[in-house]
Amino acid sequence: MNSIERPRRLRRSSAIRALVAQTHLSAADLVWPVFIKEGSKQREPIAAMPGCQRLSLDTLEGEVQNLVDLGLRALALFPQIEDKLKNAKASEALNDKGLVPRAVRMLKGRFPELLVITDVALDPYSSDGHDGLVKNGEILNDESVAVLAEQALIQAASGADFVAPSDMMDGRVGWIRKSLDEAGFSHTAILSYCAKYASGFYGPFREALASAPRSGDKKTYQMNPANRREALREARLDQKEGADILMVKPALAYLDVIQALKRGCTLPIAAYNVSGEYAMVKFAAQNQILDEQSVTMEILTSIKRAGADMIFTYHAPDVLKWLKPL
Ligand code: PBG
Repeated sequence: MNSIERPRRLRRSSAIRALVAQTHLSAADLVWPVFIKEGSKQREPIAAMPGCQRLSLDTLEGEVQNLVDLGLRALALFPQIEDKLKNAKASEALNDKGLVPRAVRMLKGRFPELLVITDVALDPYSSDGHDGLVKNGEILNDESVAVLAEQALIQAASGADFVAPSDMMDGRVGWIRKSLDEAGFSHTAILSYCAKYASGFYGPFREALASAPRSGDKKTYQMNPANRREALREARLDQKEGADILMVKPALAYLDVIQALKRGCTLPIAAYNVSGEYAMVKFAAQNQILDEQSVTMEILTSIKRAGADMIFTYHAPDVLKWLKPL
């Protein structure tokens, strides 16, 4: 063989491989989505998501302290709302003494440097289990957006760094931006779930929050998995309406969409490694079918390689430990 080019020369040792690595995953890339609930000293396992729990706020405080010590910089809150507080208007979403506003105030008081991201959508609060208001089986758009903008305002007032509309109503980013600015929250950023697909991979999350739609599905507002160009259209609109970061969700089955948005837009791109993606790895690892650490790192690296600037992932607590030099 007379081969001048031998790519294997750059794979000979771990030091060389690290030197020429083209993608890096670090603690600063991670956002930890965490489930919260009322009560004290609560740490309730979620059967569909091994390793994840619903935490009461006191337990959350201790857990966050541990993770901040390991390098956690950002988290996203998802509340389990008690059944008795759910109604058709999702009015608990507008309670400024509700679970999420209290969690934000606690976290920003205790950990001022930690970025706190709140979810703007009605499903955890709605007796219909939809992200918007429902009338005669239809998900209302403009009426929902008015409520979502109020919800975002309450979250901003409690101190959230980012409000993150995950509802996929038309025009919500613009309306939320306007209400925030008018109320003096021009510094509060919007992380828009821009290309959010109607996905089967959200199953375990809906179990975690008991937030599944009571009837119908989410296909009239979340995107069709068959479409990529439509994601660029959503991105153009969200960008024009004032979004600061654009998210693609889920991540693993949508790496091409992440890449398309990264190429087609100038805003930072977030990806959400969702509950179903997490559960597949966890259950396979529990059955000794996959090696959890190598598969998780490979998945998260692939999401970054596709173009994500940050990743929402339930694996964050594990990854922070794995990334920490011993
Ligand atoms: C709803 C919301 C969902 C997720 C985040 N926000 C579920 C849905 O749209 O039904 C899913 C996250 C996950 O599966 O990890 N606003």
